[in-house]
Amino acid sequence: MAVNPPAAMRAITFAEPGGPEVLRVSEVAVPRPDPGQLLVKVAFAGVNRPDVIQRQGNYPPPPGASPILGLEVSGQVVAVGEGVEPELLNQQVCALVSGGGYAEYCLARADHCLPVPEGLAPDQAAALPETLFTVWHNLFERGWACEGETILVHGGTSGIGTMAAMLGRLFGLTVIVTCGSDQKCAAAVEIGAAHAINYRSTDFVEAVQAITEGRGVALVLDMVAGDYVARNLKCLAEDGRHVTIAVQGGARAEINMAQVMTRRYSLTGSTLRPRSDDFKAVLAQEIAREVWPLVQEGALRPVMDQVFPLEEAASAHRRMEAGEHIGKIVLRP
Ligand SMILES: NC(=O)c1ccc[n+]([C@@H]2O[C@H](COP(=O)([O-])OP(=O)(O)OC[C@H]3O[C@@H](n4cnc5c(N)ncnc54)[C@H](OP(=O)(O)O)[C@@H]3O)[C@@H](O)[C@H]2O)c1
Repeated sequence: MAVNPPAAMRAITFAEPGGPEVLRVSEVAVPRPDPGQLLVKVAFAGVNRPDVIQRQGNYPPPPGASPILGLEVSGQVVAVGEGVEPELLNQQVCALVSGGGYAEYCLARADHCLPVPEGLAPDQAAALPETLFTVWHNLFERGWACEGETILVHGGTSGIGTMAAMLGRLFGLTVIVTCGSDQKCAAAVEIGAAHAINYRSTDFVEAVQAITEGRGVALVLDMVAGDYVARNLKCLAEDGRHVTIAVQGGARAEINMAQVMTRRYSLTGSTLRPRSDDFKAVLAQEIAREVWPLVQEGALRPVMDQVFPLEEAASAHRRMEAGEHIGKIVLRP
């Protein structure tokens, strides 16, 4: 059934950066799609760590992006801009967006959307794009992960880490993760990690060497940086790749460049949000081709933690910051 978008909607906004308490429900204008865009009546919006960092004032939206938080949504297409196939109207989609998700309506580029197949619940659909696009690009395109390789992923129960474990397993990788508790380690193994190391009670470098019988891993997907980098390099096999996707432990690292040279390491990293529309569209096409069949057949589902009503976005952020969650938190407008 067609939905006519109203003029105004509820959205989560904040006047000044700060703690979760700065998040407010506001009435704002419903945006209108520009050429190439469509308007989604949001069923669910994913919550990601970058939202928390943006709220704290440390991750400003890129030029042109909505100042409203939220990098992924699911829902019904209720309006299309010029150049967008009218057949998309009324379809259920999930979308990677560069902002605006924490709202009743959200603009997305049509070529950054994926169709929601039967059997994929709308809360699950909203929980896929940000982690799937990030993990796919960083594991396979930057990190050149290949079937049969063993990799190390920190944050094994995070949104990103759970996706890396599941995707890795589906694509023939052996995934070792680190987590901050035994309970999280057990959850990570259930989710798809081959091994989980409690980094608070065990030296992960020694554990990785033991698991790989001294060979080391082909790739480290790192969201910690700081003093982890030198330790990560000690986990790498020759020709290993180190992929940085966050610097939660500090942006500076001291590493031995002789080790990089003699063991032929590659150091790379990326952030998804500021990438060009064209880049994200190509990534969406690749994911539609390579991964979406697995979503369609039910082989890949996000790990869901908790659903919060949109107006309780602050509670959702508190839960994420407390590190209590396993998998994805989503908001329901
Ligand atoms: N580059 C990109 O394009 C991109 C895109 C999306 C997200 N990210 C980043 O990826 C990270 C995960 O995002 P998310 O949304 O999945 O967040 P999340 O669910 O909140 O996960 C954060 C994870 O970081 C781990 N962690 C934090 N400090 C750590 C430390 N010192 N040692 C080991 N682990 C530590 C936590 O592990 P424990 O709870 O087990 O301690 C937790 O699992 C965030 O830093 C986010 O900014 C990057």
